[in-house]
Amino acid sequence: MSENENGSSNGSGSDWRSWRLLIIGLAAVIIFIGLTLVILTVSDSTSVASAEEKRVNALTNSDDECVVCHKRTTPGIVQQYGVSSMASAEVSCQDCHEVAQDYPGSVEHEGAYVLSSPSTAMCENCHTAEVAQYNQSRHGLPAYVAFAGTEPLSDENLALYQSIDEVTAPDLQRNALYELEGPAITRFACEDCHNIGRPHVDDSVGQCQKCHLRHEFSLEQARKPETCNHCHIGPDHPQWEIYQESPHGIAYMTGGDSWNWEAEAGTLTVEDFPAPTCAICHFSGFGASGTTHDTGDRLSWFLFAPISQKRPGAEGNKVRMQNVCQECHNQNWIEAFYDDADAAVEAVNDWVIESDEIMAPVKEAGLLTSEAFDEPIDFTYFDLWHHWGRTTKFGAWMQGPDYTQWHGAYEVLRELAELKVMATDKLEAAGLMGE
Ligand code: HEC
Ligand code: HEC
Ligand code: HEC
Ligand code: HEC
Ligand code: HEC
Ligand code: HEC
Ligand code: HEC
Ligand code: HEC
Repeated sequence: MSENENGSSNGSGSDWRSWRLLIIGLAAVIIFIGLTLVILTVSDSTSVASAEEKRVNALTNSDDECVVCHKRTTPGIVQQYGVSSMASAEVSCQDCHEVAQDYPGSVEHEGAYVLSSPSTAMCENCHTAEVAQYNQSRHGLPAYVAFAGTEPLSDENLALYQSIDEVTAPDLQRNALYELEGPAITRFACEDCHNIGRPHVDDSVGQCQKCHLRHEFSLEQARKPETCNHCHIGPDHPQWEIYQESPHGIAYMTGGDSWNWEAEAGTLTVEDFPAPTCAICHFSGFGASGTTHDTGDRLSWFLFAPISQKRPGAEGNKVRMQNVCQECHNQNWIEAFYDDADAAVEAVNDWVIESDEIMAPVKEAGLLTSEAFDEPIDFTYFDLWHHWGRTTKFGAWMQGPDYTQWHGAYEVLRELAELKVMATDKLEAAGLMGE
């Protein structure tokens, strides 16, 4: 059969084959020309569209001396600032950078005195409310005290720190880690994240630019969860990973392109944001809750603590968070969710209390070295709550089942089992276990 077919096509078929090649060739040329035309038209129209979308650069014709010179020396800065809404509102380079000669931290520059890193006091001149809220939040001084302690604080800063109703004593173990690792490491670690609350030499607090990247200061950028993931990531606070696997995060990643990212603050609705980002739940004016820079304002628990307790003002805070949920979920459903998540916090608390009970006889007998983090049992005891206990709680509250389960509860159970063996070994070695 196959021989016959081959035979017949070898004969009269060769003419047909060259015809066929010619036809295919012609078709290919026609298709190629057609496609090229289509591509040209499409790319032409998109380049028109993107040119229209591009925000106007308010500094294009500026004769301001800083702008004129910096267009040459740092064109990137002038370009970024030019498209910001502050530049359109005629806020100038000087408004943030220029200070009097005797201002703390000023440097002489081209006949003026400038701050190379504008402090929060400069923003405060125009954004009083945001700065006041920020100062009362754990993104302010508590974040800095978390690694540096209170010693470096000025009297004024210490008074501010003590006026924050959500201050809790910094965890000594983690300060020990800061000491142990040393400045060569911690400058790139603890400090990179926790300097979000660092005081300036002029005593104003915090680094707004950690979320409002200079020099665009764009709302879209601050509202996107990627902004938070610089810090809210990793084994001890995986809020970013949890968000990614939550229904809210899925909605963001699959449909976020069409959300109204630059909508005016304080007026956001479900039409702008059909699902929440971190910012919507924790910052934005949404439903009956107003915009805030006080991140504690909507939280009912101290979840980061080894054993979580309710915050001062927990009930009011809870109402403010639930106001946000209520724009999309029914009130009874939210209440039921809160009851379940509260129960998850209590369950983790019980496990951490159990770990303390396992360690109590070891501590009482003085069987731990005086140094923190110098023997395996220190790490197991710490990871149990600091990584896995916390993660279990965060996963429950922010809809990340894999984090509640396999990166959370399961690891807590494993560490509890290991801790028991380690504690027993120590007690036995010291002859304190009876038989
Ligand atoms: C004649 C040109 C010129 C003018 C005018 C000028 N700058 Fe600069 N600026 C520079 C150059 C060049 C540098 C980089 C200096 C360096 O690398 O040491 C710089 C650096 C800076 C820095 C960083 C300083 C540091 O120590 O880190 C700031 C902030 C700054 N300029 C702001 C301003 C502001 C605000 C104005 C207007 C009041 C201004 N500049 C006017 C040329 C200029
Ligand atoms: C809304 C406030 C604000 C305005 C307006 C502003 N800056 Fe800045 N600038 C900052 C902040 C915040 C930093 C970052 C400091 C840091 O991270 O340490 C900065 C840093 C800088 C630096 C030093 C850092 C670097 O990347 O080189 C230069 C230079 C600078 N700005 C120039 C300008 C110029 C020129 C203009 C006007 C076109 C301008 N700035 C407008 C807030 C502002
Ligand atoms: C001289 C006054 C002034 C100073 C100083 C100032 N701002 Fe602004 N800022 C404004 C005005 C006015 C707007 C409103 C622009 C608009 O909505 O059109 C604004 C808007 C903003 C926005 C919202 C942007 C948007 O697209 O709506 C952010 C974020 C912001 N400022 C951050 C800062 C930070 C951070 C600092 C300090 C580093 C600062 N501002 C310093 C006047 C100022
Ligand atoms: C990747 C950024 C990042 C790094 C690096 C980091 N932290 Fe944190 N830390 C955070 C975040 C985010 C929280 C808040 C967790 C929460 O509230 O759920 C936190 C919470 C804390 C807390 C509990 C809150 C408090 O004020 O008591 C302490 C203490 C702390 N960190 C100390 C440290 C120390 C010390 C280091 C370095 C050894 C360090 N952190 C490194 C981001 C970081
Ligand atoms: C942890 C991140 C974060 C930090 C740090 C931060 N902001 Fe914001 N900011 C946001 C978010 C998110 C929004 C958008 C809120 C919304 O969706 O309406 C915002 C909005 C703003 C706006 C516009 C609000 C309005 O009502 O028009 C201003 C102004 C502003 N921030 C100023 C500041 C200043 C000043 C600081 C420093 C004291 C600061 N921010 C620090 C996250 C941050
Ligand atoms: C530069 C690092 C950094 C960025 C960026 C950042 N955070 Fe934080 N955040 C921290 C640190 C550090 C803490 C813990 C402070 C403490 O308790 O000591 C914290 C704590 C919090 C808390 C708990 C506050 C409390 O009262 O316990 C919330 C909620 C929060 N951040 C939300 C956000 C959101 C939402 C964003 C993004 C819009 C964001 N953060 C961006 C570093 C950051
Ligand atoms: C659907 C709303 C929602 C979204 C989206 C959301 N969170 Fe949360 N978040 C919550 C709730 C609810 C809690 C726990 C509230 C309480 O304690 O009552 C919480 C707790 C936290 C805490 C713990 C504070 C503590 O006590 O230790 C941090 C930090 C935090 N969120 C940051 C983030 C970050 C970063 C993102 C985005 C990657 C995010 N959240 C996304 C609702 C949300
Ligand atoms: C802007 C709208 C919006 C807001 C605000 C919002 N959610 Fe959601 N939520 C959604 C959407 C959309 C889904 C996905 C629904 C689905 O799974 O089909 C969802 C899903 C959920 C789920 C998972 C439901 C399931 O069946 O698996 C939980 C739990 C949840 N949200 C809790 C909250 C809580 C708690 C808040 C407030 C802290 C909140 N949401 C705020 C829109 C919202």
